[in-house]
Amino acid sequence: MPADDASRPPREPDPLGRPEPTVQDLLAQERVDVPWQLKEAPFHDIGVAGAPAAEYVSRAFFDREMTHLWGRAWQMACREDEIPNAGDHVLYEIGARSYIIVRGDDGAIRALRNVCLHRGRRLRDCAGRAAAFRCPFHGFTWSLDGALKETPTPWDFPHVNADNFALPQARVGTWGGFVFVCFDPAAPPLDAYLEDIPEIFARWPMEQRFTAAHVTRPLPCNWKVALEAFVESFHVTDTHPQAATYIGDFHTQYDVWEGKRHYSRMISPRGIASPSAGAISADEILQSSEPGGATLRVPEGSTPRREMAERRRAQVRDVLGPDLAKLTDSEAVDTIQYWIFPNLVLWWGHAAPIVYRFRPLGDDPERALMDVYLMPQAPHDAPRPKPAATTHLTADQPWAVAKELGGLGAVFDQDVGNFAALQAGLRAIGDEPTTLARYQENRIRYFHKVLREYLGDER
Ligand code: FES
Ligand SMILES: [Fe+2]
Repeated sequence: MPADDASRPPREPDPLGRPEPTVQDLLAQERVDVPWQLKEAPFHDIGVAGAPAAEYVSRAFFDREMTHLWGRAWQMACREDEIPNAGDHVLYEIGARSYIIVRGDDGAIRALRNVCLHRGRRLRDCAGRAAAFRCPFHGFTWSLDGALKETPTPWDFPHVNADNFALPQARVGTWGGFVFVCFDPAAPPLDAYLEDIPEIFARWPMEQRFTAAHVTRPLPCNWKVALEAFVESFHVTDTHPQAATYIGDFHTQYDVWEGKRHYSRMISPRGIASPSAGAISADEILQSSEPGGATLRVPEGSTPRREMAERRRAQVRDVLGPDLAKLTDSEAVDTIQYWIFPNLVLWWGHAAPIVYRFRPLGDDPERALMDVYLMPQAPHDAPRPKPAATTHLTADQPWAVAKELGGLGAVFDQDVGNFAALQAGLRAIGDEPTTLARYQENRIRYFHKVLREYLGDER
């Protein structure tokens, strides 16, 4: 326990058996007001069931996901600032679906199905800018709003007209600078789908962030295998042993709110060591927390956590401007991570500006595409920088190749090092379930519960 906790009265043992200090213990030591978001620590007890291995390998389950999950859930397609001008477009692909996310002449963003209504060619093969979408095969052309613009040899298409030949559109919503799409006309609107997320993020708005880096990479596993490796800190000791000296992996708080289907959270504290690190000095905790930190010292009366927070404050001082005064130590150093169902993971606060997205790659249950974005806050007194171009890694290229990720690339490579073996193991156990920790993996359990509800199977 940190020294300044010694005066606190003894208390009942934690009913879940979690080690001290808890995140809430650490928040009690903050020197500025703790925001309401961090004071919540719900545990929604949904038992101890694991996830059937078949949910990660089965073709039938994957096909049901394509119809009932990806066909119904709101999903992040791109950032708004990727398509700032009329005609700018990117492609959003999920399974066999391909949509053109385009900004129209009226400034509105639309999601047009990327399939020619003539003989079915994809209209666009990649992102770009266009005044209209002309199919390369025979020249049928659509305006940016999806209306039919030109029919080649109209005398031969008496059955084709503007009313029956507009490109089908998916629903589009925006929040936090993200563009979301939904293929289900009956799904709730995006703001209802996001539940409390906009209110939670009002303190650190995502629309004030910009894309400083964006890297994608194919992975040799089901999309959920990859996703679930990034939403718990339980694996730090064994997968990232170099970080166990300054991340309180087993002290992490995992939050699932009863009645909130579309988000969960973890708060993984930094500046305290994992119980697995054994006896370790305050200086060693601080020194291991950053490259080249070997000469750092924790001053008398301070803690490694507080020193880490001060160092982070110095880095974000100019960016946050007046907001710096409200930055808690937790927001300066901890992994405060919100997972928006099904596949978007956002770091809240200012410890690291990471955003993850995970999805199936093509039509293969055993391959995934992972996007990593670094989205720092734009300087408070300057225009937002233009988004960085996307780096597309191949399946054989390690994350470390993407220099824009800095030291994170090597960390992600440690994570990815488990994936092929995980997928192979899950394939081998067939119908058996995995085993999930009651608390530390409750977010994963809850995710599978909601996923099965989407699929109409509430086992
Ligand atoms: S397939 Fe598109 S114009 Fe013929
Ligand atoms: Fe990891």
